[in-house]
Amino acid sequence: MKKKVVSLILAATMIATMVTGCGSSSDETAATDGAATTTDEAAPATEAGAADAADAAADAAGGDYADKVVGVCIYQFSDNFMTLFRTELENYLIEQGFSKDNIKIVDGANDQATQTGQIDNFIAEGVDVLIINPVNSSSAETITDKVVAADIPLVYINREPDESEEQRWADNGWDVTYVGCDARQSGTMQGELIIDLGLETVDLNGDGKIQYIMVEGDPENVDAQYRTEYSVKALTDAGFEVECLSDQVGNWQQDQAQQIVANALGQYGNDVEVVFCNNDAMALGALQAIQSAGRTVNEDIFLVGVDALSEALEDVIAGTMTGTVFNDHFSQSHSAADAAIRFVNGETNEYYIGCDYVKVTTENAQEVLDMVK
Ligand code: BGC
Repeated sequence: MKKKVVSLILAATMIATMVTGCGSSSDETAATDGAATTTDEAAPATEAGAADAADAAADAAGGDYADKVVGVCIYQFSDNFMTLFRTELENYLIEQGFSKDNIKIVDGANDQATQTGQIDNFIAEGVDVLIINPVNSSSAETITDKVVAADIPLVYINREPDESEEQRWADNGWDVTYVGCDARQSGTMQGELIIDLGLETVDLNGDGKIQYIMVEGDPENVDAQYRTEYSVKALTDAGFEVECLSDQVGNWQQDQAQQIVANALGQYGNDVEVVFCNNDAMALGALQAIQSAGRTVNEDIFLVGVDALSEALEDVIAGTMTGTVFNDHFSQSHSAADAAIRFVNGETNEYYIGCDYVKVTTENAQEVLDMVK
């Protein structure tokens, strides 16, 4: 169903590339580091296959998890993307046989101390499995230690712990995994959305360079770091010269982004050719600032986000946003639930379970909107 549509869109939509932000040189033709991936048609099939296998495993194990308790810690309920994610996660767990009452989802209110208390409570309660979207990825080591000591399997989502932490799970053979997408891919796709328009279209002032504003999510979060770096790297890898006019932290929030972009437009005016936002919530704020400044997206400024929130997709269709990147909350929430189910069944998981992003332009925005709505 929805998952199949995602695969079709994925299969029809791929390309490659990648590094920089304000502070780095304006005209570098950055070398590729080979770390970023782009996409390939095999990925969705594999991902769909893995999900089918998980369904089969659940069926084989009886598929009835009504008495199993899942503790879910979300970093902040008011985050638009994490709202889509947790809603889908809950629905999918219910579809798999969990009882709604036994899926306990709590709001960390963007405060690690609050979330740590919630994890302690879940441990004291003796839940069967934990799914955690950490407030601070850097707290993962402490969280892992206490959850593993309590002998509870753990699935991290959305905010990836660092490599050495993931290596520790593997080295110790712990029942811990991370489910998420590689943010380098989303950054690269944002850059491609601009590259695909061509230098002549985007270089509005004709100086041979792309002048841009960057609005970053929470800087502690690898998604923000990579999207900032790889969106610009895609441009420089494609041979575009770039100039960063402003690079500021909007913390994933629409209102903060609106303020940042309003100030930057006030300061740099018509020099601003592209606004990169690490997510759609901030792109929606940027759009408000752009419109208030009397500018017109796709005519005298270009704007890209990430997530494919419904509102952003409507803007892409209407031409008031240049493009976005679908952050597949269906695939991520289903994979997280499937991993949790495997742990509950006494099976193991890989230590990293990935998923692909999808580039969204006017060409496929309606299709993606039909799927996410
Ligand atoms: C999403 C953002 C969200 C963040 C939360 C990112 O992957 O793109 O919209 O705010 O995750 O951690």
